[in-house]
Amino acid sequence: MASIAPSPRLVALLRGRGAVLVLTGAGVSRESGIATFRDGGGLWEGIDPMTVATPRAFAADPELVWRFYDERRAHAAAAQPNPAHHAIAALEATRRPFLLATQNVDGLHERAGSRALVRLHGSLWRLRCTAEGTEHDDPTPRLAPLPPRCAACGAMLRPAVVWFEEPLPMAEFDRAERAAKAASLVLVVGTSSLVYPAAALPLTALAAGAYVAEINPEPTPLTASVREHLPGEAGAVLPALLAAAGIPMDRAA
Ligand code: OAD
Repeated sequence: MASIAPSPRLVALLRGRGAVLVLTGAGVSRESGIATFRDGGGLWEGIDPMTVATPRAFAADPELVWRFYDERRAHAAAAQPNPAHHAIAALEATRRPFLLATQNVDGLHERAGSRALVRLHGSLWRLRCTAEGTEHDDPTPRLAPLPPRCAACGAMLRPAVVWFEEPLPMAEFDRAERAAKAASLVLVVGTSSLVYPAAALPLTALAAGAYVAEINPEPTPLTASVREHLPGEAGAVLPALLAAAGIPMDRAA
C-alpha cells in the first residue's frame, strides 16, 4: 500500500456527491507493462514519432506505420488492467456525475469496466477507412496482411488514433471540457501534461473552481498549479485513496 496522505479535503470530495473528472495518460498503464511515451525507455525514445504517428508518415509508408500499431495492439491485448484502472472504474460506480477522459488508446480502461469515458486520442481497436471515413471495431491482436483493407470499398484502413498534426475528435474534447467546467474534483493521473489540448483540461477545471489533484511519481508542468500532488504510482495511490474514502474497489459491492 502506498504511504500517501491524502488531505481531508480530498477525502471529503471523494466521499461527496459532486461531479468528478478523471484525466489519464500513459502512466496509468505502465504497471500493466505498457511503455509510456516520454519516460526512460519510453516509446518516443526509440522511435521518432514523426516516422510512425503522422498522416505524412502513413502516406509515405503505410506498411511501416501499420507494423508499429500492430505491435502495440499485440502488446495491449496481452496486457491486463491494473489496480489503477480498476479503482477508476470503481469510482465511476459511486454513481455521481462522472467522466473519464483518457489519452490512452490501449483499451485497458474499457476492459476494467469504465463506461463513462471519452477517448481523446482515439483507440487502437478502431479502424477507419481512408476513403469513406467509416469506422469499425476490430479486436484482432494481429492483423494480416498489412495494411488492412476496407471490406466495403477496398481502400486502405488506418488506425482510428489521433496522430501528430491532427485535431482531436471534437465531440469527445467538448464533452471533456464541459466535464472540466462542471467538476468539483479532478484527478489527473499518469500524464506528463505536455500535450495540448488535453493538458489544458485541468487548467480549465482550476479556473472554474475545481479541486485538482495530480497522481504522478514525478512533478510535471501542472504540479505547481494543482491543489494537491500525490507522488506515487497510480496502481498504489488510487486504491489507497478509495480506501481512505471508504469506496469499495469491487464494483459489485
Ligand atoms: P507521457 O509518456 O508523456 O507521460 C507519462 C507520465 O506518466 C509521466 O509524467 C510519468 O512520470 C507518469 N508515470 C509513469 N509511471 C507512472 C505510474 N505508475 N503511475 C502514475 N504516473 C506514472 O504520456 P502522456 O502524458 O499520456 O499522444 O502523453 C500524452 C500523449 O503524448 C499521448 O497520448 C500520445 C503522446 O504523443 C498521441 O499519440 C497523440
